[in-house]
Amino acid sequence: MVMIEIYVTYLIIATIGICLVNYWYGIHALHEKPRVKRGMKIPPLVPSLIPPLGTLPLKMLWNPRGFVLSAKHLLWNSRPVRARILTQTLYIFQGTETIGSILKERSLSLFAVHAILLRRVFGLPPSALRIYAHDNSGGFPRPYPESNVEPQNRIEYLIRRTNQRLLLGAGFAPFVKRFQSTLTERLQALSIRSHWVKLDDFVQLFNNDFTASMMDALCGKYLIRQHPNFAINLFTLDDNVWKMLVGVPRFLAPRAYAARDAALGALKDWNTWAREHFDPAAVNSDGDDPVWGSKYWRDRVDAFQQIEGFDADVIAMHDLAVIWGMTTNGINTSFWTCLEAFKDQELLKLVRAEARACLISESDVKFDIDRLLHQPVLQAIYAETLRLRINGFFVWYQSRGDLNVDGWHIPNKNWILTTPMSGHMDPEIWCRGAGVDHPVEEFWVGRWLKYADDGQTLIFTTEMAKGAWMPYGGALHICPGRYFAKTMIILGMALMTTLYDCEVLADEKNLRMSMRTFGFGTVGPVGKVSVRIRRRVL
Ligand code: HEM
Ligand SMILES: *[C@@H]1O[C@H](CO)[C@@H](O)[C@H](O)[C@H]1NC(C)=O
Repeated sequence: MVMIEIYVTYLIIATIGICLVNYWYGIHALHEKPRVKRGMKIPPLVPSLIPPLGTLPLKMLWNPRGFVLSAKHLLWNSRPVRARILTQTLYIFQGTETIGSILKERSLSLFAVHAILLRRVFGLPPSALRIYAHDNSGGFPRPYPESNVEPQNRIEYLIRRTNQRLLLGAGFAPFVKRFQSTLTERLQALSIRSHWVKLDDFVQLFNNDFTASMMDALCGKYLIRQHPNFAINLFTLDDNVWKMLVGVPRFLAPRAYAARDAALGALKDWNTWAREHFDPAAVNSDGDDPVWGSKYWRDRVDAFQQIEGFDADVIAMHDLAVIWGMTTNGINTSFWTCLEAFKDQELLKLVRAEARACLISESDVKFDIDRLLHQPVLQAIYAETLRLRINGFFVWYQSRGDLNVDGWHIPNKNWILTTPMSGHMDPEIWCRGAGVDHPVEEFWVGRWLKYADDGQTLIFTTEMAKGAWMPYGGALHICPGRYFAKTMIILGMALMTTLYDCEVLADEKNLRMSMRTFGFGTVGPVGKVSVRIRRRVL
């Protein structure tokens, strides 16, 4: 026993020691002149003495956001660095300009990340993963010249093409229109009357009702009607995404696996039902129909069916993955914006006035969406929430030859990592001018507002951001769902504040950000958010 204790103590001291030495070396290397090879600079390596631990200090595990915000030498550099994690080398790029250059690199891709997530989090079997491993044709209409993959197996392109049609192309306007009506109906129909009632957890309203409205708009009404727990299961899986990603086995995470099984089962059932009940005559002029909900799914099924090994299970896994990607960030952001609006009475007045000005019809609470999206305070809340609540990384793999990014050499087959968090939390950017009295951690909409030349009219401005605000990525690597996300978040806030009064009862400490899904985008709060809520008389 004593021997074991001594041994463990020794291990702990050695590990801490190695971390410190590592860190010191790392900092040292960063201040030296970078090595130059054939005219290109090599990002300095933050040395790693024990490869299994890499260079990531342990703080990353217990306070990842704190680590990112304090890791000045790793994530706040204007110069790129290299870090080793396990057997992989990460090229870490920071600074608005450098990130800007990276985002213009066409050959970088999320595709490898997709494959890993599909495998680990959504359970994709090796037979289907083969399609991913073989597809080297890229995400653009014209396949890369070196590629010889069959046209029907161009999975990266087929997924990108269908996403783009839905979110940036012909599918977008009808999708928004459906969502406006499903969300309005659902929020109006909440069983909340004109006297105060207590909700134990405001978050659940977003997880359930916002998600359900989005599913109704995206896949028709069958899914949620037949499988009312779909949204809960989706968020249970989301909350356990790290466990799944690192491969925690089923017996150690039974709830997460059960939630995934149930969600996949629901999607499979809906798919089967939709195939049986689809009626070409019911397709409207936009190409959508009430059974599949949207042309999006028909296009995907048509394409997936031509790929070897893509059976009903594999299709359901893809569907769950994309639904997860399309919902969690926007829904969590919706929650935070509503919370901010309800917490501050002055702000709430402005929000309600701006929303009211966009009402086309009071009786069915119909807003002019286009006008709503241009209201200054609504936009400021949206932008400030994303600035503060994003806890994400952009990670890309590149496999089409060495890269030269602003003179920095990145050899082929490596991972590139950046994060918008440092830029979002940089006092040099956000605390200038009128922002000087408002620390970066503070939610302050003034950063995004100014008066027009007439001195009266409030306008939304991104002047202060100086390009550092990038929750969605940018250039060639930008979220295709950003317009939908903005619509959902601003419409959600307009509807909630117009329909309801709400007082936050929860302790501030419950409202701190949860780190359970750190790295994937907008997180939720750590604790339950109790509120009292009542219907407003319009
Ligand atoms: C606040 C909410 C959101 C944030 C912060 C966000 C952020 C991002 C980011 C950073 C990417 C990676 C871009 C890249 O590296 O290429 C991404 C990808 C994507 N997003 Fe979003 N997103 C949000 C909401 C949405 C919504 C509401 C939808 C759809 C309705 C959506 C659909 C997608 C899709 C389909 C991709 C995959 C693109 C691809 O790999 O081809 N996102 N998002
Ligand atoms: C947001 O994300 C978390 C994971 O951090 C999830 O469990 C939570 O319930 C989500 N929902 C909202 C509305 O914040």
